[in-house]
Amino acid sequence: MKSFVVQSTFVSLLAWITLTVALPQVGSGTVTAKARAATSTARSNTVAQAAGKLYFGSATDNPFLNEDATYKAILSDNTLFGQLSPENAMKWDATEPEQGVFTFTNGDAIVALAQANGQIMRGHNTVWGSQLPSWVSDSGFDNATLISVMQNHVSTVIGHYKGQIDGWDVVNEPFNDDGTLASNVFFETIGPTYIDLALQAARAADPNAKLYINDFNIEGEGAKATAMVNLVSDLKSRGIPIDGIGLESHFILGEIPTTLQAQMEAFTALGVEVAVTELDIRMTLPETDALLAQQQTDYQTVVSACTAVADCVGVTVWEYTDKYSWVPSTFAGQGDADPWDENLEMKPAYDGIIAGFSS
Ligand SMILES: *[C@@H]1O[C@H](CO)[C@@H](O)[C@H](O)[C@H]1NC(C)=O
Repeated sequence: MKSFVVQSTFVSLLAWITLTVALPQVGSGTVTAKARAATSTARSNTVAQAAGKLYFGSATDNPFLNEDATYKAILSDNTLFGQLSPENAMKWDATEPEQGVFTFTNGDAIVALAQANGQIMRGHNTVWGSQLPSWVSDSGFDNATLISVMQNHVSTVIGHYKGQIDGWDVVNEPFNDDGTLASNVFFETIGPTYIDLALQAARAADPNAKLYINDFNIEGEGAKATAMVNLVSDLKSRGIPIDGIGLESHFILGEIPTTLQAQMEAFTALGVEVAVTELDIRMTLPETDALLAQQQTDYQTVVSACTAVADCVGVTVWEYTDKYSWVPSTFAGQGDADPWDENLEMKPAYDGIIAGFSS
């Protein structure tokens, strides 16, 4: 084993010299494929379950599923992925684009795929200030009307998938970074009680689904994480149904919060489960071997934290492949945030995931 490693490093070095000499103009962005591939033969969902987790999973979206058979085949391998999240298919603008007109075709296709593959399904999401059709956001509905519109949406969407979804992101991104409640039509019109009403409607629609509040920048100590602790403890004290906190975990390379595990423990101490719901770790491009090595370390750090916390149920990456990541179109000059590359090959980050579940 050791000699193989030495030999392969030597071959890589030779290849690197050859490439560098032959193609000096391409720069550090294209060293060798060898240095950039994962070496693990273990399977990510298999090791997650061996670690006592429910799943390692991925977000997915219908255009890629319909158009890219290789992508779909990898996603469908339940030794790699034990769970799917719909990136867009169950959001309000996708499911109720006009008032009272519900379309579930895309969401149904993802649920059917998960069921065919023996994969757990997470639902995402019912009440959020973004990707909201203008008939909701710009309606001028009064309080009572908006409550009824919101309750009808939550009941209809969650009711449609009753019995088929393990956990729902019922309320998505309710906070500002300073810990105050974010301004959206629900908060502005209904007030903070919109969160109670959404969770109650969700519980009534599917009593067996785990009900989550999902947010970003709550993965380490800070005002926003404290606000989430206070909200969930207040909900529990008033008997409002809440079962889980989703830590989105859209991280920047080298900036994983050192208090990640402690924060997960602070959440689970409230009597709820947690999940890493939207993990990706973006870098400033171009990619280099050093950045990929840091990314491997960072993926291991995140997955290890979930492994160490008994009530962290699983880790979902927000697309398994750089080919379909949301990152480059959202953060200029950044990307390569996922554990599979644009050619659907496993990157060193994959080794970090395996190591994290094995720790
Ligand atoms: C909207 O109505 C609900 C239910 O009656 C109430 O709890 C809430 O305080 C009202 N919000 C505002 C802003 O008046």
